[in-house]
Amino acid sequence: MLAGVKVFATRRYPGPAFDELDDVEVAPLVQLDAPRDDVEGLIVANEPVPLDLLPRLRIVANFGVGFDRIDVAACAARDVVVTNTPGVLDAATADLAFALMMAVRREIVVADRFVRSAGWSGSWSEGGLAEELSGSTLGIIGLGRIGSAVARRARGFDLRVLYAQRRRTDTELGEFRELDELLAESDLVSLHVPLTPETEGLIDARRLALLRDGAVLVNTARGEIVDEQALVSELASGRISAGLDVFAHEPEVPAELLELPNVVLTPHIGSATRQTREAMTRLVVDNLLAIERGDPPLTPVGG
Ligand code: DGY
Repeated sequence: MLAGVKVFATRRYPGPAFDELDDVEVAPLVQLDAPRDDVEGLIVANEPVPLDLLPRLRIVANFGVGFDRIDVAACAARDVVVTNTPGVLDAATADLAFALMMAVRREIVVADRFVRSAGWSGSWSEGGLAEELSGSTLGIIGLGRIGSAVARRARGFDLRVLYAQRRRTDTELGEFRELDELLAESDLVSLHVPLTPETEGLIDARRLALLRDGAVLVNTARGEIVDEQALVSELASGRISAGLDVFAHEPEVPAELLELPNVVLTPHIGSATRQTREAMTRLVVDNLLAIERGDPPLTPVGG
């Protein structure tokens, strides 16, 4: 039990581990509108931390691997530990990246709508033809934990894997390419870098133009990594297709995308399986428990 540490959680996070919190207040962050000197632990889902209102805060336990909306330097300056949930969501996110690749490449959403609208009246042998996934070239941008999980899944689909990242690594998972070369050489491109000042807008109009005609861009990382307006223009032209789980201004999705048949859209569900979300809560709670015991946090960020 986490006795003695008052925790503020911005929602009830899924899974049984959450019930191990002894003294937890569940409320949206907007309700934290006056100083609270009782709160020592804060659980957020990549939300900005109102440090000024929490003078006795000791830990921000982020539910998620990405922490781009948390000012880690400001927390460190106040001796507030920040933790995240790496590792436990790799499989679910890699699965979704693959689901999007397959859905876009095989036009599954379009086909589903066709059946539901009673459009299917002729022989199967006369239908439209999609592009095959097997045998394609997949470019992975960011061969970290999730990118590597995507590369391992790619083997089962006989994909040729290229990867780009700041540092070239010695790996069997794929062949290194400079980013621009990877974009020009891939049939499918999947993004797996964190959002940082260096990666914001990384895939800009110039780089989108490098993609091959008919290429598929999959984003399960962060919307801000791509110039969203430039992406909308490329997609509206029909030159490329995309599977998008993340957007620059969530939960807003550019209206132009809603009508396009060459885009599959999901609402930031990369880690949204029961098993993964429960494991994320487990790690959040374990980090809080470690601080309570006076132990080092399990998964601190920011070194
Ligand atoms: C994360 O963990 O950063 C995701 O965006 C949510 O799964």
